[in-house]
Amino acid sequence: MQSLAWVSSLILMAVVAAVFLWVVAGASRTGGEAGAMAKTAYQWRGRLFWLAIVAGIVLSFATLWDWPIAGHAASGAKPDVTIRAVGHQWRWELDKDTVPVGKLVEFELTASDVNHGFAIYKNKTEMIAQAQAMPGYVNKLQVRFTEPGEYEVLCLEYCGAAHHAMRTVIKVRAGS
Ligand code: CUA
Repeated sequence: MQSLAWVSSLILMAVVAAVFLWVVAGASRTGGEAGAMAKTAYQWRGRLFWLAIVAGIVLSFATLWDWPIAGHAASGAKPDVTIRAVGHQWRWELDKDTVPVGKLVEFELTASDVNHGFAIYKNKTEMIAQAQAMPGYVNKLQVRFTEPGEYEVLCLEYCGAAHHAMRTVIKVRAGS
């Protein structure tokens, strides 16, 4: 993916440079020839503008569809379990850390000092939900854990020297 982005950037930079040189070369031309070139350039500018708009919309939808953040806010559905989570520099304080699998869990997130980011990871790599923990506010985050196991919670908002150490674990138990 990165090399694809790199190659396409190079190609687009080459196109921009070629157009620039073409325009510079055209500046020394005179009369009818220059007029015709200007007309062609304006036509292409219009086409490229709309092409860029359409490409932007299509690429945004295609690549942001699986946005990990959307869809986790409290839906109004009554949760089966509520966990109050407070972020401190630099630790998470949960009033409960074990939940049954398959139940609707609602996290009430807040912070005692600065903004923290409450992010829940499955298998250490896949973020399944996240929301801000902010002083003076309670943000609700609903999650239904579909598989038992240990889910790691990390801080996603840089909050000072030991930001990286803000981690805890939620245990999801099978049954009951
Ligand atoms: Cu708390 Cu970063």
